[in-house]
Amino acid sequence: MENERPTTVLLTGASSGIGLEIARLLTARGCEVWGASRDTARLPQLPHFHPVCMDLAADASIRESFAQAQRDAGGFDVLINNAGSAVFGPTATVPAELAREQFQLLLHGPLELIRLAVPAMRQRGHGVIINITSLAGSFAVPYMAAYSAAKAALSAYSRCLRLELAESPVRVVDVQPADINTPFHAATRRFAPDEDRARQEAVWEVQRREMAAAPPPSCVAETVWRVMNSPNPPPVVTVGSFYQAKIGPFMARVLPMRWLERLMRRFFGI
Ligand SMILES: NC(=O)c1ccc[n+]([C@@H]2O[C@H](COP(=O)([O-])OP(=O)(O)OC[C@H]3O[C@@H](n4cnc5c(N)ncnc54)[C@H](OP(=O)(O)O)[C@@H]3O)[C@@H](O)[C@H]2O)c1
Repeated sequence: MENERPTTVLLTGASSGIGLEIARLLTARGCEVWGASRDTARLPQLPHFHPVCMDLAADASIRESFAQAQRDAGGFDVLINNAGSAVFGPTATVPAELAREQFQLLLHGPLELIRLAVPAMRQRGHGVIINITSLAGSFAVPYMAAYSAAKAALSAYSRCLRLELAESPVRVVDVQPADINTPFHAATRRFAPDEDRARQEAVWEVQRREMAAAPPPSCVAETVWRVMNSPNPPPVVTVGSFYQAKIGPFMARVLPMRWLERLMRRFFGI
């Protein structure tokens, strides 16, 4: 971006995994990053990094923290909606409250930040919104229905925003990671009733194994850097292993749904 002053960034989920790598890379490359966590003690101590306490489960916390960070920063050039975690369990059994919590964290929280950020970006004459969604939005993961659905919903919102803001100075990009090696799996809340135990176990184990062997979060940070500095970024960017991030989406475009379903069942061993 062609600013005289350093680029200001608001980043959620800066305490771990992908967000932590984004914070490291962006501060090292001259950005001022306001990075959020529910507990500022978990945030890194880096030059050009400004800790923000924000709980995406609570709209009041989002609004208060945003207002304070925006005053502090004098406005944001880039908003990165990255924070997230998953609930794992049978779709017909997981309590509705847990599914609602997923939608608050992965959809309504990010949307509240977008509502707060866009008017100021339009006034300033530039802005980039990067939503870190997931390939799970296209390849719904069994026993992670609320997670997959909320990510798909944020992808759809991103596409609408792009159309609506096409004549404005605000750019919107949907970054869809494949499996990435972070503490995400360890942080996943598992709701495991007795039914279907063997099938759940199989999927859980495949997820654990795939994430352990996946590329590091620095590849997502590099993608974010590229996208935020592109004068004309694409609507969707996938990132991860070649097989998951490139071959997978290609197969989803060309194969009939039933074939894809068969491949997914084979992949997860169910
Ligand atoms: N890892 C993967 O394979 C993968 C693949 C596709 C997409 N993604 C997406 O990438 C994003 C980052 O995931 P990650 O792999 O880096 O996971 P991670 O290492 O577990 O980090 C998750 C981050 O989200 C924050 N967070 C969780 N709940 C929050 C809440 N209620 N309010 C505010 N912040 C909250 C955490 O902060 P605190 O706990 O400190 O508050 C933490 O910084 C997520 O949106 C995830 O869905 C990950």
